[in-house]
Amino acid sequence: MKLFEPVTVNKMTLQNRVVYPAVVSRLASIEGFVTRELKNRVLRIAKGGVGMIVLEPAGIIARKSGNLLKIHDDKYISGLKELVSEVHKNSGAKIGIQLIHFLKISRSGYRQTLEDLSITEIKQITEDFYSAAERIKTAGFDFIELHCAHAYTLSSFLSLRNKRRDAYGNNMEGRMRLISEVCTAVNKAVGHDYTIGCRINGDEFILGGNTLKQSCVIAERLVQTGVHYISVSAGGKFEDGLIYDGIAWPYSGYSGARAMPPAYMPEGVNVYLAEAIRNVVRSYQVPVIAAGKIQTPVYAESLLKEGKADLVALGRPLICDPDWPVKVENGRSGEIVLCKYCGGCTDNDRNFEPVVCRQWPKGSLDAPVNFKA
Ligand SMILES: Cc1cc2nc3c(=O)[nH]c(=O)nc-3n(C[C@H](O)[C@H](O)[C@H](O)COP(=O)(O)O)c2cc1C
Repeated sequence: MKLFEPVTVNKMTLQNRVVYPAVVSRLASIEGFVTRELKNRVLRIAKGGVGMIVLEPAGIIARKSGNLLKIHDDKYISGLKELVSEVHKNSGAKIGIQLIHFLKISRSGYRQTLEDLSITEIKQITEDFYSAAERIKTAGFDFIELHCAHAYTLSSFLSLRNKRRDAYGNNMEGRMRLISEVCTAVNKAVGHDYTIGCRINGDEFILGGNTLKQSCVIAERLVQTGVHYISVSAGGKFEDGLIYDGIAWPYSGYSGARAMPPAYMPEGVNVYLAEAIRNVVRSYQVPVIAAGKIQTPVYAESLLKEGKADLVALGRPLICDPDWPVKVENGRSGEIVLCKYCGGCTDNDRNFEPVVCRQWPKGSLDAPVNFKA
């Protein structure tokens, strides 16, 4: 099967084309450290035979964010190093981490916007990515993914909804300036042989936001800036999000549904976005990852065979059944416990609770061993 053909991303070779994309688990400590529970979650997925793990995002700044990993200080390196080393010892998976920058938000209803940022504050973002990237390489990760999708800072700069009228907005060049500076800085911090990917939105799915037209241009420019893979997500914006407990939640409107497509949406609802972006960057030999309701092995395989993507990301399906890859490879696809896209895990995330699957035994923090349909 093409799913199990190795693929090289920059200098990194993956044992197969199944990706566990970044999925916040809320298993990090409130201070942003790796916990035993988080290690167990990641190891469980690694041992299931996946080729590439994008560890959930680590915040590059000292800013409150619930149980989210942090990497704004050297004190976070040792815990991450242990996690990476356990994954490497126990599996053939390559593991990277998603780096995230987000603006201030508070329960009072206040939400900082990128138009509020001074040039000095913007320059600091690039410096913070640089330092975080150095720490990530020291921790032994195989690659870095920059979170340029959904509601967060890099994505907001890229968006047509960026209303800055200076060098960091105004037109495509301006909207791309911050991410270009960040990519250059991160490349400098880790060296060109080290793999850097970007997760972008193929479409923001908000009024006045980016569509595939802008996203294709963004993807090509990122590749020209030295990015080694593009992971295509969608939506997940604040602009159409509801307010929960005083805080806007970017995954609650229609754009949120496109980021984590619910049961009523069709299989592979965002695949056409990855396919279009792949067509634009194909000549650069840069792989593209598709995501969003890709679950059955037959469907996942067909996407690779038909050239719609180079790799397939399975978020909720691998939370539900981390043994998906090994089962498929060994001809035991019938034993996969299928995700029902019930929304339970996304509810956990929104409520700052450990992200678990409703199909596991009550109280479990991981899929049971020998979990079978
Ligand atoms: C609970 C939860 C948390 C998520 N957190 C992130 C995140 O931090 N960064 C990110 O890029 N995507 C995040 N995602 C989106 C997933 O990576 C994935 O793109 C999405 O769930 C669609 O894939 P799926 O249908 O295979 O689950 C999250 C998804 C879920 C369900």
